Formats: sequence, structure tokens, C-alpha cells
Amino acid sequence: MDNFTFYNPVKLIFGRGQMDKLSTEVSVYGKKVLIVYGGGSIKRNGVYDKVKEELGNIDAEVFELPGVEPNPRVSTVRKGIDICKKEGIDFLLAVGGGSTIDATKAIATGAKTDVDIWDIVTKKEQANDALPFGTVLTLAATGSEMNAGSVITNWDTHEKHGWGTPYTFPKFSILDPANTISVPRNQTIYGCVDIMSHVLEHYFHQAENTPMQDRFCESILKTVIETAPKLLNDLENYEYREVIMLSGTMALNGVINMGFRGDWATHNLEHAVSAVHDIPHGGGLAIIFPNWMKHVLDENNVGRFKQLAVRVFDVEPKGKSDHDVAVEGIDKLREFWNSIDAPSTLSDYDIDESTVEEMADKTVIARPEYGNFKKLTRQDSVEIFKASL
Ligand code: NZQ
Ligand code: ZN
Repeated sequence: MDNFTFYNPVKLIFGRGQMDKLSTEVSVYGKKVLIVYGGGSIKRNGVYDKVKEELGNIDAEVFELPGVEPNPRVSTVRKGIDICKKEGIDFLLAVGGGSTIDATKAIATGAKTDVDIWDIVTKKEQANDALPFGTVLTLAATGSEMNAGSVITNWDTHEKHGWGTPYTFPKFSILDPANTISVPRNQTIYGCVDIMSHVLEHYFHQAENTPMQDRFCESILKTVIETAPKLLNDLENYEYREVIMLSGTMALNGVINMGFRGDWATHNLEHAVSAVHDIPHGGGLAIIFPNWMKHVLDENNVGRFKQLAVRVFDVEPKGKSDHDVAVEGIDKLREFWNSIDAPSTLSDYDIDESTVEEMADKTVIARPEYGNFKKLTRQDSVEIFKASL
């Protein structure tokens, strides 16, 4: 293992009826609260009313920023920052999925500085503080509820970047699986793919001697593979929603990847696709991940692919070469994602060869090489995108 420091201060409040704790949690941080949310799903499923009721219990002065986009935009973040500064907001409450939470992290940071938030997202400037914020998660996918990361899109420049600071951990996150029951089938599929992709990004690392972490990863993958099809046949099932929700949080809260650095090339590739075409994050990952796997598989790293194939996808290794076992595992991943109706080619989103070069440029804006399991360059991006068409 590599040396590591683990730090995660997020208070996780999980389970049925846990929304009743919202007022007590918020009351610690002040009276002026800005609720941040998306396009209106929380108004249709009753979550908004419950949030207002809870904030009413503590006589909070409530402000609102609706309209956070999927793939949240810096223009919306700037609107939120303006409200915080003008109104002297004490506390931010994100109510929604990863996009709403990520936007809130950026608003909380921008509210405490005169530096433009995009310069912080692109790491030209550093953040030294952030307003406190909490989250009410309504979609299981990103893990943003229990990490300090955020992904923001600049639609003027067509860039989408991940960033984070020690100040952007939520103070608390309330996860009531009942709040995810209204998530439609397609977003449920994308969420399951995103969760699996986070685990897979971790799984492809170069550290030695990580047997426990490997099995943490494998157990989450197996759990999602077992539960996702049942959930998709029964979207209102609380128990399946509960399993997927905890899987999503555990996949990206830092616990399962202690002692090594995962790859993250596929996320970089997906962010480039979304920056140009604004497609759902999980949809892009489903298309790209198996193609990344086939692109980087070689005789030096075949062992990890083989382990994944045998332990997670039950590939029988006897009488087969390691390479063949590895490829069979990759094919089984693709088959599984096909079986839950995840997209498998860029043409599913009407993306053709004409933007491959532009997307490849986006993959190397931050640095000329990316990926920790195997270093990739712009040329690799072009090849992976072409294989994904
Ligand atoms: O906007 P509303 O009306 O709320 O509808 C949303 C949105 O249309 C809807 N939705 C959410 N909860 C719902 C619901 N619909 C019905 N019932 C509910 N309970 O779902 C749609 C998608 O929401 P969004 O928040 O965009 O999805 P997700 O959670 O997948 O977040 C995606 C964003 O997170 C970033 C992605 O790149 C993308 O920008 N990521 C953030 C990460 C992080 N911070 O750690 C890591 C991830 O790898 C990812 O990159
Ligand atoms: Zn992701």
C-alpha cells in the first residue's frame, strides 16, 4: 500500500424518516439559509415541502436558488454566489443529486472570496474557506454527498473540470432512500453505472498488497450487479433503493481506496464528452469504460483485469490465457450494462467522428498526460473515442 491520511468529516444521516433531523442539523449554523436545487423534481416528489417545513421549525430565513442544471454550469454558480454575498447567507442546503451538491460546493467557496470561482475550479487560484453547507441527497450516483469533490462546467468555453478543497466537505448529508424513489428509470441506470465506474476507477491502481481494498471494491460491484436489475424492475422498492444509495456513498467517500490512487482516465474522457455534448455523466461512462479497458490492457497489467473477471464476473479461468480471461471480463461488464439498457456507443447520443478531435483536446487541457493506472495522451483519447463511436 501507499502511505495515506484518511479524513472525512461528513456526518452521514441515513435511513427512512431521517429528514426529521434536518431542522436540528441546520440550526447549528445560523438563520439565513439558501436552498439550492435543480429543475423541479423536489417540488413534484414532496421533498421541497418537507425541507420548507423543517426550516420553518427553526424560523429560518429562507432564500432559494432553483435551476441548477445536470452538469452544473458556472453561470448558475455565480448567481448563487451573488445571493450569498448580497443577503449574508449563513448556511447552504443542497437538495438534489450530484449536480446540485457540486454547484453548492462551488457557491459556498465563491461566497468567501473575491476571486472568480472559475479560477478556483481550474486551479489557477486557491480557496481558503467556504460557507458551511449540508445536503439532502435525492439521487444515488456521484458520492458527492460524502466527499469534497465537485465538477463544474463552463458552457462558454466548453470545459468541465473536477476540483475540491478541504473546505468543501458537507457538514452533514441526509440520505433517506425514500427520496430517491421518484428517480426515473434512465437516471437510475446512469446512477448505477456511475457507482460501478467509481469503484472501477479505484480498482485499476498500481499499488501492491491491497487485498482488503480489492474485496471492498469487488463487494460493491457485486452488490450493484445483483441489485440494479431488481431495482429497474421495481423502481419503487425501498429496499433496493437503500442498497444502491449506500453503495453510491461508499464508492466515493475515500474508504475503499485507502492506500492507493485509482486511475480516473475514464472520468476525464467522459467529462470531455459532456463538455462538448452535455450528455448524462453515467451514460458517457457506460460507453467509454469498456473501451478504456481494452485500450490499456497489456501483458504487464493483465493480472488486475483477470482478478476482476474471475471474482466479479465469475469468468472461469481454467484452460484460458490470462489475456482471454481479461477480455471475457470486459465483455461481461459491457453485457451487464447492455442488460440494464445503459448506452454503449457515442452514436446513441448522435455523436459522430466530427467532434472526436475537439473532445480529445479537452482531455488534455489540465495536463498533457492523464490516468494513473496507465498514462494516456491526446492520441490515446482519439483512439478511445473512435472505438466508442
Ligand atoms: O434537476 P431536477 O429536476 O432535480 O432533476 C434531476 C436531474 O434532471 C433528476 N433527479 C434528481 N433526483 C431526483 C430526480 N428526478 C426525480 N426524482 C428525484 N428524486 O435527475 C437528473 C440528474 O441529476 P444530477 O444531479 O445531474 O445527476 P447526478 O447525481 O448523476 O450528478 C451528475 C453530475 O455529478 C458530476 C457529474 O460529472 C455530473 O456533472 N460528478 C460529481 C462527482 C463528485 N462530486 O464527486 C463525481 C462523479 O464522478 C461525477 O463526475
Ligand atoms: Zn462519476
